[in-house]
Amino acid sequence: MKKITILLATMLFMLILAACSDSETSGETDSGDGDISVGIVLPTKDEPRWVQDEERFRDAIADSEYTTEILFSQGSSAREKENVETLISKGIEVLIISPHDAAAAGAAVEAAKEEGITVISYDRLITDTDAVDYYVTFDSIAVGAAQGQYLIDNAEGSNVPLYLYAGASSDNNAFLFFEGAWSVLQPKIADGTFVIANSSEASDLADTAELSRDQMGSILNQVTTNWDPNEAKNKAQTHLTAAGEDMKGDVAILAPNDGTARSIADVFGSDSDISSYLVTGQDSEKASIQYIIDGKQSMTVFKDVRTLVKDSMGMAIDVLDGNTPETTGAYDNGNIEVPAKQTDVIVVDEDNVQAELIDAGYYEASEFTGL
Ligand code: BGC
Repeated sequence: MKKITILLATMLFMLILAACSDSETSGETDSGDGDISVGIVLPTKDEPRWVQDEERFRDAIADSEYTTEILFSQGSSAREKENVETLISKGIEVLIISPHDAAAAGAAVEAAKEEGITVISYDRLITDTDAVDYYVTFDSIAVGAAQGQYLIDNAEGSNVPLYLYAGASSDNNAFLFFEGAWSVLQPKIADGTFVIANSSEASDLADTAELSRDQMGSILNQVTTNWDPNEAKNKAQTHLTAAGEDMKGDVAILAPNDGTARSIADVFGSDSDISSYLVTGQDSEKASIQYIIDGKQSMTVFKDVRTLVKDSMGMAIDVLDGNTPETTGAYDNGNIEVPAKQTDVIVVDEDNVQAELIDAGYYEASEFTGL
C-alpha cells in the first residue's frame, strides 16, 4: 500500500514537472509566499524580438527585491487573457503587457483593473479601453520615418520601383510605422523618385500627404505581413511574379521589421531580374545584424529594449512604492489619453553596426561572422 502511495506521489510529481516545463512561464523570482508583485505578458516567443525583451527583463530583475513572472501569449488573445487571469490569481499589483491584438486585449486588462492592478502597456498600445494606466514605448512614428528616409537617401535615379509591406492591422504600431514611413516617402512618390509596385490602394493615394486611419487600413489590407515571415515571403513571391519588367531592376523595399525583412530579402535576392534591392527592418535581431554584415539587409532600426525594460520596471516599482511614475507625453488609445514614456531609436547599417551594437555592448562580436 505504502509502495503504491509513493508511486502515485512520484507520478503526480512528474506530471506537475511536465506541466510546468510545458508552460511558457519564465523569469519567475518568487519570494516563496506564492505572491508575485509584477506580472509581465509578452505576445510570442516565436519572434526573436520578444525573446530579446524576455532576456532583458530577466537581467533587469535578477537582483530585484520584487517578484515577477513572465508569460507568453503565443499569438493568441485567449491565451493572453488566461495569462492575465493566472497572474491576477497570483496577486500581482502591476501588470506589464504587450498585447497580441490591441483591441482584443481590452477584456484582459479590464479584468486586471477590476482587481485594482496598475496596467502598463508595453511597446504596443492597448486600444479602446480606459483600463490602461501607462504606456512605455519607442517613438514608433520615428521608426517608420527612419525606414522611409533610408530608402530615400540610398535609392538612385527616378522611377525606382517601391515595394511596400506592413505589420499586422491588429497592432497599433503597424499604423504608426506606416504613418512615419509615408510622411517621408509620399513626397518622393509624388515627385516621381519612386513608383509604387505592389499596392493599388497606395498608388491611388499617392497624392495624399496625410492618410486617415481608414486609408492606411486599406493599404495595410493589401500589403500586411501580419508580422509573419512566411506570409511576407508568400506576398513577396506573388508580387514579383505579377511585376512587369519596369518594376524590376534596382528596387526599394519598405519592410516593417527584421523578421519579415529577411524573408522578403531572400525572395528578392533570388530573382535574377532584380539587380539590387534596398530593404529596411527594425529590432536589431541577431539574424538581421548578420544579414546587414553580409550585405543582404540594408538597415535596421535599433530599439534598445534595455531602456524599455528599465522604464517599465521603474514605473512598476514607483507604483509598488506608492509613488506616481514620471511620464513624458500621452497617447490617445481611442478611449482615453494614456500617459506615456517614449524612447528614441537609432538607425543601424553596415557603417555603424560595430559602433552601435558591438562597441556599445548590446551584442558580442563573437556572435557574428565577417565583422
Ligand atoms: C514591435 C516590433 C515588432 C513587431 C512584430 C511591433 O509591435 O514594435 O518591434 O517587430 O511588433 O512583433
